[in-house]
Amino acid sequence: LHVIHIAAEMAPVAKVGGLGDVVTGLSKALQKKGHLVEIVLPKYDCMQYDLIQNLRALDVEVESYFDGQLYKNKIWIGTVEGLPVYFIEPYHPDKFFWRGQHYGENDDFKRFSFFSRAALELLLQAGKKPDIIHCHDWQTAFVAPLYWDLYAPKGLNSARICFTCHNFEYQGTAPASELASCGLDVYQLNRTDRMQDNSADDRINPVKGAVVFSNIVTTVSPTYAQEVRTPEGGKGLHTTLNSHSKKFIGILNGIDTDTWNPATDSRIEVQYNASDLQGKMANKQALRRLLGLRLSDSMQPLVGCITRLVPQKGVHLIRHAIYRTIELGGQFVLLGSSPVHHIQREFEGIANQFQNHDNARLILKYDESLSRSIYAASDIFIIPSIFEPCGLTQMIAMRYGAIPIVRKTGGLNDSVFDVDDDTIPPQFRNGFTFLSPDEQGFNSALDRAIQYYKNDRESWEQLVQKVMSIDFSWDSSSGQYEELYAKSVARARAAKR
Ligand code: ADP
Ligand code: GLC
Repeated sequence: LHVIHIAAEMAPVAKVGGLGDVVTGLSKALQKKGHLVEIVLPKYDCMQYDLIQNLRALDVEVESYFDGQLYKNKIWIGTVEGLPVYFIEPYHPDKFFWRGQHYGENDDFKRFSFFSRAALELLLQAGKKPDIIHCHDWQTAFVAPLYWDLYAPKGLNSARICFTCHNFEYQGTAPASELASCGLDVYQLNRTDRMQDNSADDRINPVKGAVVFSNIVTTVSPTYAQEVRTPEGGKGLHTTLNSHSKKFIGILNGIDTDTWNPATDSRIEVQYNASDLQGKMANKQALRRLLGLRLSDSMQPLVGCITRLVPQKGVHLIRHAIYRTIELGGQFVLLGSSPVHHIQREFEGIANQFQNHDNARLILKYDESLSRSIYAASDIFIIPSIFEPCGLTQMIAMRYGAIPIVRKTGGLNDSVFDVDDDTIPPQFRNGFTFLSPDEQGFNSALDRAIQYYKNDRESWEQLVQKVMSIDFSWDSSSGQYEELYAKSVARARAAKR
């Protein structure tokens, strides 16, 4: 199959969160299975250019329509993690992708609807004949209606459209009139059965549009797929998802086990594997030294947390976890940053309070190298999310031998099973879970984990060895995508005959 992803993120060159990891991990796995996979990204000024190989501009430029006129786009091609990637650089006076950040600009709707159209224009003008165009989240959700309304009639008609929603909290709604800029017909699309937002008839909703117009709609775990079909979990889209339920499925993400591998990770102090946990201890001591935490013996557990600090992630429980861990005799390290001003300020206050503390450190920035050192050093890793479409950090943590504590929601519920849950076969039990999104609920898991760590080191080490050998690779999940793609392509071909 020929698969083209159109996305706003791709790890490691343009990554904000898990979306970037997924685009790269899924693409690599499909490429390994023999498929032709290409990716189209905006050419951000803030990308990690040193991680792109053979980057060069193509001779031909691509003209694309926006706001009643044509704009030229310079097209770059390069290789990222062995994958061919096209980067689109628009010659637009608003300098859409020269903002020093990926998202969070007032004109994000404009920037990404422009990009979605330019990406399809590139595929058309380059004569591509993909079997699947796979778009992700609201930023490239425009691809689905643009494809069927404008590009299939123009001849880019070989493809089936797959849309993956990584988080229904972000739907990108905007006043209906804004849709016209990218050439879509507002009058046709601002209807309840098309792109009209379910709670405001003068607004359009790109995610709803992609659900309606795509051939395949996925989200990133089976439990989350169920949750979003309810009024509580669907963020206004549950009725739409229910009426398109036949093409909607939840597939649990994997992680890129080549990138996330403690046995080969050159950015951690000492490489290690499940049969050599001495190496893990060395990483714990190294992190303590690096951050100026007390260099205590191995009996003091280190609790880690690496996250975007947004309400979804249970910030009140993360804050509580710092104090509770210290109370129980552990050490706590948080690496995170927040796009929400008041949350960032609050955590800066807490970080200051602990800046010379023996047992806690908060580092409020995005830092991939440090994240690896923390995964490698942590004994316990917390993800107390209020909701979590999939979550990758629990899987990465386990790969590095840190035992997860999670709230039972979304993909966390599909990947972490409580060590004390008798309804789960013992071989699958791999962490600590809780349900109630309050301090008591959280304590019921953290207290057990710390006790277990301190009182029964032999079984703890066995647990660590067990979680390190769980297969979280994309092997199986990419197979599910492969099957969906193939079925959809076969259906389209049968319909043509
Ligand atoms: P989300 O996409 O909702 O942020 P995920 O768990 O799917 O959550 O993915 C988060 C990804 O971002 C992981 O790879 C994690 O290691 C990384 N990450 C999150 N915060 C930071 C940070 N401050 N520094 C480095 N990496 C981070
Ligand atoms: C989103 C979700 C997260 C998921 C990631 C990758 O950012 O918040 O749960 O793991 O996308 O699919």
